[in-house]
Amino acid sequence: MNFQIALNFEDGVTRFIEAGGHETVADAAYRQGINIPLDCRDGACGTCKCFAEAGRYDMGDNFIEDALSADELAQGYVLTCQMRAESDCVVRVPAGSQVCKTEQANFQASISTVRQLSESTIALSIKGEALSKLAFLPGQYVNLQVPGSEQTRAYSFSSLQKNGEVSFLIRNVPGGLMSSFLTGLAKAGDSMNLAGPLGSFYLREIKRPLLLLAGGTGLAPFTAMLEKIAEQGCDHPVHLIYGVTNDFDLVELDRLEAFAARIPDFSFGACVANPLSAHPLKGYVTQHIEPRHLNEGDVDVYLCGPPPMVEAVSHYIREQGITPANFYYEKFAAAAA
Ligand SMILES: Cc1cc2nc3c(=O)[nH]c(=O)nc-3n(C[C@H](O)[C@H](O)[C@H](O)COP(=O)(O)OP(=O)(O)OC[C@H]3O[C@@H](n4cnc5c(N)ncnc54)[C@H](O)[C@@H]3O)c2cc1C
Ligand code: FES
Repeated sequence: MNFQIALNFEDGVTRFIEAGGHETVADAAYRQGINIPLDCRDGACGTCKCFAEAGRYDMGDNFIEDALSADELAQGYVLTCQMRAESDCVVRVPAGSQVCKTEQANFQASISTVRQLSESTIALSIKGEALSKLAFLPGQYVNLQVPGSEQTRAYSFSSLQKNGEVSFLIRNVPGGLMSSFLTGLAKAGDSMNLAGPLGSFYLREIKRPLLLLAGGTGLAPFTAMLEKIAEQGCDHPVHLIYGVTNDFDLVELDRLEAFAARIPDFSFGACVANPLSAHPLKGYVTQHIEPRHLNEGDVDVYLCGPPPMVEAVSHYIREQGITPANFYYEKFAAAAA
């Protein structure tokens, strides 16, 4: 039986390989043209040491303590020359993609729908046969080329890939290159190039309650994660706080309601910072984080949005004197920055 192994490189590039239970992850990677660090292939040197972030695997017992200690094994470190997958896995490789003679993959697709959800927010879906082979971890992003230019912009997937189609949630930045294309020229059928997947902001194995904090279109990676959680189920509570500036920035509430109906222990709150808002919940995301959401630190926090929001929320959590078990964030920095 073949499993899918996501190899995450230091430079943010992710490549997926197939590995059968009969072969090691290192052998599978080389067979598929990815030269992850390797030397003895014998469990003796430790050169192939990586970190398994998710999945089940067998390490056998043909390696020595110098190469991988019992402590490291317990923490999740693996020797890929010994590791045999028993499920899909996510493996962090401590080397850049170019060193491993691979690079991000390029895909061609075409616009299936482009809709302005509000004056500030655009929903874009693209599809194509090539995309049916696009694998990514929910939370990751791609670089989309702006048609008619050589420039690219980063966008997080807001959905999983289904029948060669993926979606994005995009802020309409007045005068912005991609924003102007999407609000002015874009139409169904236009071709778009993309490169990826990229990024270390993705849903890890769920081992404790999750607190998801989104600012504006920073909601995008969370709707992809929630699709995954709805598919695979979840034994822990998941709470999302989604904050925006103005009422018209508040989108996808129906979709969040639908997730709340599908995922037994999922709840969310949406708040608007503008004091003139007609929305019942006002203020910033930080004003709606309750002690129970931080669960005395036994919580994995995921935070995504514009850089000032990410900084403000990170600062607030530090100030609470609580250190979450894991804290992952993604800043939607502008391309020029
Ligand atoms: C990893 C990553 C993932 C991202 N994912 C998403 C996503 O899912 N959805 C999304 O909407 N954006 C996302 N972004 C931001 C996105 O890549 C673009 O920066 C943004 O869409 C603007 O592109 P543009 O071509 O329309 O404007 P640009 O032509 O890049 O910018 C025009 C002008 O507006 C300024 N500007 C750009 N963005 C902003 C902003 N947010 N606020 C204020 N001024 C701005 C620029 O500095 C520039 O002066 C992500 C960024 C990163 C780094
Ligand atoms: S390559 Fe030496 S331990 Fe794996």
